[in-house]
Amino acid sequence: MIKAAVFDAKPYDRPSFEHFGGLHDIQFRFFETKLGEDTVELARGADAVCVFVNDTVNAAVIERLHEFGVKLIALRSAGYNNVDVRAAFGKIHVVHVPAYSPYAIAEHAMALLLTSVRRVHKAYNRTREFNFSLNGLTGFDLHGKTVGVIGTGRIGRIFIDICNGFGMKVIAYDQYPAKDSGIEYVTKEEVFAQSDIISLHCPLTDETRHMINADAIGIMKKGVVIINTSRGGLVDTEALLEGIKARKVGAACLDVYEEEADIFFEDRSGHILNDELLSRLISMPNVIVTSHQAFLTEEALNNIAETTVNNILSYFSNDGICDNELCYRCGKVEECKKARKERCF
Ligand code: NAI
Repeated sequence: MIKAAVFDAKPYDRPSFEHFGGLHDIQFRFFETKLGEDTVELARGADAVCVFVNDTVNAAVIERLHEFGVKLIALRSAGYNNVDVRAAFGKIHVVHVPAYSPYAIAEHAMALLLTSVRRVHKAYNRTREFNFSLNGLTGFDLHGKTVGVIGTGRIGRIFIDICNGFGMKVIAYDQYPAKDSGIEYVTKEEVFAQSDIISLHCPLTDETRHMINADAIGIMKKGVVIINTSRGGLVDTEALLEGIKARKVGAACLDVYEEEADIFFEDRSGHILNDELLSRLISMPNVIVTSHQAFLTEEALNNIAETTVNNILSYFSNDGICDNELCYRCGKVEECKKARKERCF
């Protein structure tokens, strides 16, 4: 029996994990709390820990997990900026779910965009109060508008397909452009300068942190709509607020927020929100915030649970090869074990 401690587990996570875990010899223990230095003790006795986007898996946490004999960190997300993979190298293997439903995220990005530009969120509130006035609800057509997509991986490309379906002109920037994709690549600055709508679909790295900052906003078109369903740290929130206050940014659609870790996924209604920036953002009429919800579809939850169970089985099985093991970029290209389909260490 493999024992796995699931952190930041919510009621909607459990059924699919219990179902797929039950098909194999994996016993999941669910903890509502997030993994971090204060809670790592809960992982004692587990063979694997299963974590999500706002768990903190830094060097100190990894050290304790290693002490407890935990062999595997199984991320139930694609992004892994919250795991110090370098600190884990040589101690604990890390696996992730590279793709569970890129459609879920791309469709949510479009849902946010349509809600924002057609003022659906406002209309919904009005008609519930029998207010059938249309004043202030004028939107604009997406057809013919230029959308700039940053990051043309799995999610970015689906979002591009959706935008093409709407008759939008798509331009894109990617550090590693996809060959023969038919996508019109331009520089990052050209995306900023030419787009009516900008959607972020690249990972959060040292290089991409605060990619949307005051300088970037400075060269954007007046009225630009910024969509972020990727990671909060891509956007300098203070600069975004300034851009909104200056009427430069026409609207922001945010599924992620750089300081979301202690806020999102929890019911904070009835509490004073101790986050000035987020409070001010939410108070803006042209900002829509969802709390890291883009992944939340039935299809995605099932795929996440199934892939995580397969990742765990694959790691603990005799051959131990797991395609979804994260690369530590140890730099030993010649001897790369992952390339030879072996365990990294
Ligand atoms: P992917 O790995 O398929 O694509 C990422 C793309 O970004 C790649 O084409 C890569 O070349 C590009 N990229 C890397 N560094 C870049 C840079 N410095 N500048 C521009 N482009 C760069 O990843 P996928 O599956 O499309 O996911 C994208 C992001 O979406 C993830 O990193 C994750 O942060 C986020 N995400 C958000 C979810 C949510 O619920 N809101 C759920 C799943 C993912």
